[in-house]
Amino acid sequence: MPLTKMSPLLLKAEEEGYAVGSFSVANMEMVLGVLKAVEETKSPAILQIAEVRLKQSPLEAIGPLMVAAAQNCSMPVAVHFDHGKTESKIRQALDIGFTSVMYDGSHLPFEENSAITARVKSIAGEYGADCEGEIGCVGGSEDGSEDIAVNCTSPVQAKSFAVITGVDALAVAIGNAHGNYKQAPKLRFDILEETASLVDVPLVLHGGTGILPDDFRKCVSLGIRKINIATATFDSVQNSVKAAYESGKIKGYYDLQEAEVNGAYENAMKHIEIFGCAGKGILN
Ligand code: 13P
Repeated sequence: MPLTKMSPLLLKAEEEGYAVGSFSVANMEMVLGVLKAVEETKSPAILQIAEVRLKQSPLEAIGPLMVAAAQNCSMPVAVHFDHGKTESKIRQALDIGFTSVMYDGSHLPFEENSAITARVKSIAGEYGADCEGEIGCVGGSEDGSEDIAVNCTSPVQAKSFAVITGVDALAVAIGNAHGNYKQAPKLRFDILEETASLVDVPLVLHGGTGILPDDFRKCVSLGIRKINIATATFDSVQNSVKAAYESGKIKGYYDLQEAEVNGAYENAMKHIEIFGCAGKGILN
């Protein structure tokens, strides 16, 4: 199965009522761990990296790795540029072969967010790639550097935004936030339900770490088709390495590497099961 675009994955998810996991990765071990879970569960998936993470994982190094890994996976995998902020990095991701990009203008006034997102959608179109936008403000920030307050999506604005921009996926803010929650969030399912009834575009849930399994399932039942998971992967990798050291399993570098792969694998396995996408990578 070649590297795929995001839109057919989300369309199938819409038809069959599940969500596709979009897993943030920072190194080769995380890519290998996620794709091991994808192969084992025969599930579709999205590999992603956010622009703020490029300080640690340069796009010119990790981007080709993500694309090559997706090309070599037997299940359909899209490669996504998450929370794009600058046109130069968005273009660099597309040049490398990413099959979708997000422009995050959620902090901007509606008109500006719509105009720039529409422009990014047309840039993605030059490459035959998909584009995700965000309306309303998901709390926190992808790398924890900013404490952005949640500003829930207005369903009516979401409808206009989807029409003006032509995005292929739309991230909504329903009380969700990036990073670890102090306590499980109280999601605004009413806003999600109304948005899904007005917007004819697959909806995306950011800030997946710490959302309870039943809340994920409810979001999926109400129309969420892509779920972003980042911090949970990083935490799982860290915990797996720590446990391996504590139990004396790490005798050398390659044991450390294996513990990292396992951490990413276990986290992806858990989320794939909750999102209902196991077995959905096999195309009819
Ligand atoms: P978490 O770090 O909360 O899982 O958020 C991930 C995310 O939304 C990436 O865009």
